[in-house]
Amino acid sequence: MPGSRHTWGMTTFTYMANPTRVVFGTGAVAAVSDEVLRLGASRVLLLSTPPLDTAAGAVRRALGPLLAAEFDGAAMHTPVGVTEQALRVLRDCNADCLVAVGGGSTTGLAKALAVRTDLPQVILPTTYAGSEVTPVLGETSDGRKTTRSSPAALPETVIYDVDFTLSLPVDMSVCSAFNAMAHAVEALYSPQANPAIDSMALGAISLIAAALPVIVIDPGDIAARTNLLQAAWLAGTCLGTVGMGLHHKLCHVLGGALDLPHAQTHTAVLPHVMAYNAEAVPDIMARVAAALGVSHAPDGVFDLIKVIGGPVSVQQLGMAEKDIASLARQAVAASYPTPREPRVAGIEELLWNAWRGNRPSGDREVPDVSLLTYQVAASFDDAPDVRGRRLVTSLVRHLHGFVVENEVTQAEWHRGIDFLTRTGQICDAGRQEFVLLSDVLGVSSVVDVLANARTSETTPSAVLGPFYVEGPPVMPCGADLAAGLPGIPMWADMIVNDLDGQPVAGATVDVWQSNEDGYYDVQLPDLDGPVLRGRFTTDDEGRLAFWSILPSEYPIPDDGPVGQMLVATGRHPWRAPHVHFMISAPGYRRLITQLFVAGGRYLDSDTVFGVKQDLVVDFVPRHGATPDGRPVNGEWRLLTFTFVIGKD
Ligand code: BEZ
Ligand code: FE
Repeated sequence: MPGSRHTWGMTTFTYMANPTRVVFGTGAVAAVSDEVLRLGASRVLLLSTPPLDTAAGAVRRALGPLLAAEFDGAAMHTPVGVTEQALRVLRDCNADCLVAVGGGSTTGLAKALAVRTDLPQVILPTTYAGSEVTPVLGETSDGRKTTRSSPAALPETVIYDVDFTLSLPVDMSVCSAFNAMAHAVEALYSPQANPAIDSMALGAISLIAAALPVIVIDPGDIAARTNLLQAAWLAGTCLGTVGMGLHHKLCHVLGGALDLPHAQTHTAVLPHVMAYNAEAVPDIMARVAAALGVSHAPDGVFDLIKVIGGPVSVQQLGMAEKDIASLARQAVAASYPTPREPRVAGIEELLWNAWRGNRPSGDREVPDVSLLTYQVAASFDDAPDVRGRRLVTSLVRHLHGFVVENEVTQAEWHRGIDFLTRTGQICDAGRQEFVLLSDVLGVSSVVDVLANARTSETTPSAVLGPFYVEGPPVMPCGADLAAGLPGIPMWADMIVNDLDGQPVAGATVDVWQSNEDGYYDVQLPDLDGPVLRGRFTTDDEGRLAFWSILPSEYPIPDDGPVGQMLVATGRHPWRAPHVHFMISAPGYRRLITQLFVAGGRYLDSDTVFGVKQDLVVDFVPRHGATPDGRPVNGEWRLLTFTFVIGKD
């Protein structure tokens, strides 16, 4: 019952691995003599095609005295006439082993000879077609193609030499790889599917999806070529082990009726067959999508073909629109298993989409820039600093992703550049608009949170902010930071401890804060000298104490581009009331933090996202006697806090 999940559920299966020996690697051709001897043979007929002179030469040299004769006339679709010519050469030289170097045509010839003579075969593939690991032989005679499966056709040994694939032209590599991907996809919904073949199929799909964009840019990339050749082996094994379905049938019909190029046809048709079958096997398509790293498998294959410049329409390959109806009838007439029942109307639609090169889902296509992104990231490959390389390539990926995800327009991009330009132009020694931008976007706090996560036992840190001034006035314990400024007096009594709870004596503690109106001294040009900032040193008990005033909430500088952005986005510029601390001591990690006034405004909407719960403390209201006997009229506040700092 085609289409039924149960039928395609694969809860029972029979599995037998094809007994082909595989030798894989770069330079693996060196093993050819040993492999021939291993088969008990000593007189080799070497099969090839003329364009493969270099690879054939390497095999010839590696065979040395084992080479008895050569035949370089292999042809597409394995014509029986060619096989008969080769058979005469074989008999004349009395060969006892066939060695074939090349793509599907040469492998086909080796198989055709093997079924007629029962000689062992050693195949050295130069493409990703995969037929070297299948027992299937397709031959043509009088223009008719016949296919048979026979153990005698299955090669005894396959030597995959990655070096032989390095010079395979990119367009052929691409189509050959999609041919392999088609084997893998169809294996997943084959009635004979089984977990071993599933794993090979999904592995092949991932390897192909990852490797193709690389070889399009660098055809000689050994790692990518290795992955593709491994995928070819895995996908070929799928093809040779379980039955293929609609896709292979359609390509067969198209190839037979119109003589369309084989691998290119596989490439252009595959996404559409997947789309046709998808509704019957959604779970399988989800697995394919995951292997491809996309959300929609047919679109993912289509987009991959497109981005690497492969053929996406059969019209491009020479098919005429008028052929669609008869091809659909031929495809439906043949019997083969496929998850969704083939019906003429459905297959016509499939072929129409493949002819037009439509994206399978019909969704608008977002141009794929992954190749461009890959190129830009790869341009940093030689950067000497490993961490720097990682950061810059990751930044490129995220920036490209941002532009794509949001389909950023030229005008928007120019506005963004203009914003950054103005952000830079307003910066000077006293104004750092980029830090402010990082602050209001929460980036400074993210960096800070990460730093804190690495030192979780110590007092949390908080952003530095733009108002710290190097070398604040040195002050003795008990000094008054406010120097007579108006405000509610505040007595701060603080301890600096280490992680063992021991006091840190001699620690330098810089303190700075805003005034009652929310301004820092550096924002008030009329002041002569620093106020509300000072440097203290902890005593033997790790203690410091000072007078100041209760800090108030304040807006961050909002007269520049960052302020304009806040207005444009409906955000306020306010920071929750706080006092800043920077604590350093020899042998200890410097702590930059802030203490926030519990109950203060904007604690839950601080514009730089700097508030951390552990840093929100009571600035306790008091009346009457003060700790150092200073007379205060009315309310004053008591701030006590123990900082914990960690070793370097
Ligand atoms: C501050 O707390 O001083 C501050 C922090 C980030 C941006 C603006 C001000
Ligand atoms: Fe501040």
